[in-house]
Amino acid sequence: MPNASTPQVTGDGALVGMAAEPGEARLLAAIDRKRLPVHVAIIMDGNGRWATRRSLPRVEGHRAGVSALRAAVEACGDLGIRYLTVYAFSTENWERPEEEVGFLMDLLLDVIDRELPRLTEHGVRLRIIGDPDRLPAAVRRKLEDAVKLRPDEERMTLCIALNYGGRSEIARAARLLARDVLQGRLRPEEIGESTFASYLYTAGLPDPDLIIRTGGEHRVSNFLLWQLAYAELWITPVYWPDFNRVHFFEAIVDYQRRQRRFGRV
Ligand code: IPE
Ligand code: IPE
Ligand code: MG
Repeated sequence: MPNASTPQVTGDGALVGMAAEPGEARLLAAIDRKRLPVHVAIIMDGNGRWATRRSLPRVEGHRAGVSALRAAVEACGDLGIRYLTVYAFSTENWERPEEEVGFLMDLLLDVIDRELPRLTEHGVRLRIIGDPDRLPAAVRRKLEDAVKLRPDEERMTLCIALNYGGRSEIARAARLLARDVLQGRLRPEEIGESTFASYLYTAGLPDPDLIIRTGGEHRVSNFLLWQLAYAELWITPVYWPDFNRVHFFEAIVDYQRRQRRFGRV
């Protein structure tokens, strides 16, 4: 992975690494490494609007968004953030035109092929959350292989939410729990919050501390409904392809200014 000073080509085609340097250094200095969020989750939104604003087809926004994802993973790696979850495709996104859905699936295959070796080399382990059943067979197979790869030294988990919906995740957990009760493996009295959470796709992952949404919408769009109970929200109007490490560090600095109370005083 390029280091912090390597200029990055953004989706915009602009070199921003150098220009961002002074602001980036100031933000980095402001970040308290002892109070980092353990888990950051991102709703990567605004690809279509980014493209439309440039008179490009919407899919060009998705293509440009790959650089922003790379930058976010690198920024997490640089800070030492252990878990990054990104919302790549929702259970509702099947309602989009067939060409756009097909493009997104092909892009995913391409990104896994191109990025996975480097990710593994840098200690990033891949995890997928969501229902694989509706995904094209080629994507399913690729993902099955990809998640088996274990870095020698595991530094970070990149979790991709794919055909993911919070409601369908909760309904699925209820189904699995009911089955286990029927089969006598579980008693209803044993079903508390932690038992329930262990039936979710995210079993074993800590709840997100910080949710970033790009593209300016103030909604959660069926993302991690159970898990974000006490997550801090950070929303930016910046479209996802333009999101860079400076924005990421701004979100972290803002997160660290907040007082998390979890219902206490
Ligand atoms: C987010 O960008 C990417 C996916 C949902 C796959 P959008 O495609 O939703 O972009 P906008 O929100 O229409 O601009
Ligand atoms: C959320 O964005 C889903 C992803 C980023 C994958 P959407 O664009 O699908 O959400 P809405 O439609 O604006 O709520
Ligand atoms: Mg959108």
